[in-house]
Formats: sequence, C-alpha cells, structure tokens
Amino acid sequence: MYNVEIIGTGSYVPEHRVSNDDLAKFVDTSDQWIRERTGIIERRISLEENTTELAVKAAQRALEDAHIAPEEIDLLIVATVTPDYFFPSTACLIQQRIGAVKAVSFDISAACTGFIFGLSIAGQFLKTGMYRTALVLGAEVFSKIIDWEDRNTCVLFADGAGAAVLRRGAEGIISELIRSDGSGAGHLECPAVPLQNKFSACSTEKRPSYTLMNGREVFKFAVRIIPEYIEKVLTNTGYTLEDIKYIIPHQANTRIVAAAAKKLGVDQAKFYVNIQYYGNTSGASIPLALDEMSRQGLLQKGDLFIIVGFGAGLTYGAQLIRWTKG
Ligand code: UT7
Repeated sequence: MYNVEIIGTGSYVPEHRVSNDDLAKFVDTSDQWIRERTGIIERRISLEENTTELAVKAAQRALEDAHIAPEEIDLLIVATVTPDYFFPSTACLIQQRIGAVKAVSFDISAACTGFIFGLSIAGQFLKTGMYRTALVLGAEVFSKIIDWEDRNTCVLFADGAGAAVLRRGAEGIISELIRSDGSGAGHLECPAVPLQNKFSACSTEKRPSYTLMNGREVFKFAVRIIPEYIEKVLTNTGYTLEDIKYIIPHQANTRIVAAAAKKLGVDQAKFYVNIQYYGNTSGASIPLALDEMSRQGLLQKGDLFIIVGFGAGLTYGAQLIRWTKG
C-alpha cells in the first residue's frame, strides 16, 4: 500500500455577500438571533454562477497550488448535493472545463460529509496504486435548494467550493473513518422528482426541491458525533489530541464547536472556524476552510490536523492528516 498526501488546495466563493440584516427583510429573524444561535454574520450567495462554475474556479486554484497540469489527474471526484444536472455528473462537466482529459470522473452524494467521503474514496484508489493523482472537490450552490421563506434553513446555508489535490507520496492521510446511519435520513432532506410514469397509477407527492431540516435533532447528532469521531480517528495512531494543531470541523454552527470542545476538554481555539463569513456551505465547508488556512500560512510542514464532519444521510466521518507541503 502507498501513502497519500495533499499537495495543493483551492477554493472559490461567489462575490455577493448577504448579511443577516438582508435576510431579516424577508423572514422573521434578526442579526442578533443568527449571530448568537449560529455564529454566522454573513454568507456568499451566487447570482449567476452554478455549481460547476464555482467548482472549476476552485479546481484551477488547487492545480496551480499543487503545481500540476490538468492532464496529470487520474481521478476527479465531486461531492455535491446541488449539481447543475441529474446527469451528466458535475465531475464530467469540470473534467471538460479544466482539461483533465485522462481523469475518470464522478460525483458522490454525502451532503455536508461529502468532502470527507470523497477524500477517503480517492485515497483508496491511490493507496492501492491504481491511480497516482486525484482531484477531490466539495461544491455547492445550496441557495438553489433553500426555501427563502423558511427561517429554519435560509439563515444557515450558502454557496461555495473547495478542492484538494491528492497524490501518492508521503504519509499525509494517517487514519480515517466514514460512516452513515440511514435511520436519521428524515432529519435533513431535499425531495427530488416524484414517481410518475405512463405505466403506474401511483404518483408520489410532488414536493418542491427545498431543504427540510429538523435542526434540533441534527444539532444533537452533531454534538455527539464530532467529539466521538475526533477521538476515534486518533485511536491506535499513537497520537493524542495534544499532538493535533488544528481541528477543522464542518462549519455548521459555532455552538456545535463549543459543545464539542467542552466535551473533549480542549481549547476552542484548536477548532478552525470561518462560518461567520461563509455560513454553512455543506460539502464545500471543510475544503474551503483548509484552503483558507493553507493560504494564511497557518499550517506548517509536519503539522497534524483532523477534519471532521456530519450531514444529511445521516453521514459522518473524520480524517487525521499530516500537512506535508513545504
Ligand atoms: O450541515 C448540517 C446542517 N444542519 C445543521 O447543522 C443544523 C444543526 N442545528 C442547528 O444549528 C440549530 O438547531 C438551529 C440553528 C437550526 C436552530 O437553533 P436552535 O437553538 O436549535 O433553535 P430551535 O430550533 O430550538 O428554536 C428556538 C426558537 C424557536 O422559537 P420558540 O419556539 O422558542 O418560540 C424557533 O422558532 O428560535 C426560533 N427560530 C428562529 N428565530 C429567529 C428558529 N429559527 C429562527 C431564526 N430567527 N432564523
């Protein structure tokens, strides 16, 4: 088995900023409630660019950062729940746009845990030696699937894209866990098209493709899962929380981070949080944070960090990673 490392990252968010006060103009909410209950101050909402557009820009930045040509990519995985089309996949559209002519390209659906799932799937292909280089993206235009009159969701979700280039090399991904629990599927969902055809008398209810969320249940789940999987991903690695420089959680709610830090008995400053500026960008949130940290010089060669996430499915997982870039 080979080792796998991250050799480059990239991200992109749309220009348009939407403040909490902007939202309070059309739903019964307030800047104070949103800040105190979620930590969000503003978010980026796409005016013209669809998911592929955001992802292409993040991908190009990641390739530039990794100093590789698009032809070197063997595998291109996109984690998204807001594709431009049912088919072709967002990954195939990106492949064409960036010129990743040799890459086998496909999408995966694991909602907010999508990037963690994507990294894990790509890692398996690289570890076995089947492929050498992979591009993994988390990209969402979540604003497409939000009911802008539902204050439970419209204050939380937003748009963005993040990417990482993985390559066989040094030991970057040290350990990982990905899990799902379909019994919680109803807590966070977005209906697709109804069952309807010429041969069936049955027609399932036609519901708009908007996000429906039982926020309290998802919150409880996250508060349980995040500390548990941070500890689990360290098990049998010889490392403890003290060796970890940063924890990069899925950016969903600062109160979830505070509760996780308290449960683990670690300083909340160990958790990297940028939700205040971007809201919850679902599958994009972790690679967006990772790229921001990398570009701010927060990660030094040899640093250990953990990425940990949860989302619709319910899905969840974590990776313990060594930053190997110089
Ligand atoms: O990527 C994964 C995606 N999902 C999540 O991570 C969501 C996890 N859950 C959460 O982050 C929180 O549950 C929310 C932020 C969604 C809600 O916060 P909460 O503290 O759990 O609020 P709540 O649902 O318990 O509601 C408290 C009150 C309710 O009013 P009453 O019944 O006490 O009068 C809500 O109707 O707050 C009200 N409320 C709001 N008020 C102003 C709910 N949303 C809003 C809002 N503005 N946007």
